[in-house]
Amino acid sequence: MEHQTLFSLSFLLLFLLTPASAQLKQNYYKNTCPNVESTVRSAVAQKFQQTFVTAPATLRLFFHDCFVRGCDASVLLASSNNMAEKDHPDDISLAGDGFDTVIKAKAAVDKDPKCRNKVSCADILVMATRDVVALAGGPSYAVELGRLDGRISTKASVKNHLPHPEFNLNQLNAMFASNGLTQTDMVALSGAHTIGFSHCSRFSKRIYSFSSSRHVDPSLSPTYARQLQQMCPRNVDPRIAINMDPTTPRSFDNAYYQNLQRGMGLFSSDQSLFTDSRSKNFVNLFASNNTAFQQAFVTAITKLGRVGVKTGNQGEIRRVCTAVN
Ligand code: HEM
Ligand SMILES: *[C@@H]1O[C@H](CO)[C@@H](O)[C@H](O)[C@H]1NC(C)=O
Repeated sequence: MEHQTLFSLSFLLLFLLTPASAQLKQNYYKNTCPNVESTVRSAVAQKFQQTFVTAPATLRLFFHDCFVRGCDASVLLASSNNMAEKDHPDDISLAGDGFDTVIKAKAAVDKDPKCRNKVSCADILVMATRDVVALAGGPSYAVELGRLDGRISTKASVKNHLPHPEFNLNQLNAMFASNGLTQTDMVALSGAHTIGFSHCSRFSKRIYSFSSSRHVDPSLSPTYARQLQQMCPRNVDPRIAINMDPTTPRSFDNAYYQNLQRGMGLFSSDQSLFTDSRSKNFVNLFASNNTAFQQAFVTAITKLGRVGVKTGNQGEIRRVCTAVN
């Protein structure tokens, strides 16, 4: 009898403690909005044709959404007094084209009366991210869906939740681990820096004022450091942004890892993946085998999509992606 009670209690506990992510599934909208994936794909493809920035902007937006309050589209919410997530310094450089991509895809979905207000903005961001990765030449993969949109977005919640470009491997590992991601996931996800742009201020220390005894970070290739100094002179216009992957900036490939092998990682966080012996083997693997990189990336971005997912009464399906209902 006692055992039975204990058994049902632990069963109940197990049920209660099962992460919400267990409710995510592929083809989640097959009855409510059967064409959602193709509708999103064409809206995203149209936007991508207008500007390549669509791809890096959407991919980074997804990452920043998931690391702050989970993948709940909280990063999309606007506030009248600039106190939302997107107003935090770590989010301020998120490119507008990422937000625009989600808004356009949502409009396309809601044009179908069957789908109107049935698909969450969080799920649209997940689908749009999958689509931009494929459009830029990366792997295509099946997405899990069923997230709800969060109702809270605060500037304060961003603090200490996003990695900084001067992080070392320990700091990167710790932050990714707190989101349920392994070091391998982290190395694979960093491969996202194979597309997109960075403002000069994010790495200027590495090329001008590394330490009291040397101006240039010794882990940077001297040739690359000189190129960076040319593209980013000391008093550069703060709006100037440069390609993060100087070799194939518009292609979602494994060139990022080959760059690291040559001392051409733009941020210390990038370069640390190669200089630290704990992650070096993975950089070498991904640099030599694009299939291995793509597989690891798909595994990792799928795990990223499960972070802090909201279900039931924790969220809602937003009518407008930038405002709570
Ligand atoms: C590992 C730790 C990471 C650090 C320290 C980091 C840091 C940064 C920084 C400083 C920028 C430049 C922003 C700017 O100046 O405008 C950037 C851009 C970018 N990041 Fe990361 N990032 C990390 C991981 C990731 C991950 C996991 C993803 C996605 C899976 C990602 C996707 C991107 C993309 C696509 C861009 C280019 C954005 C654009 O062109 O608009 N990053 N990152
Ligand atoms: C590359 O990685 C894939 C996937 O892990 C593996 O099946 C394949 O054998 C690897 N190729 C080489 C040449 O090592």
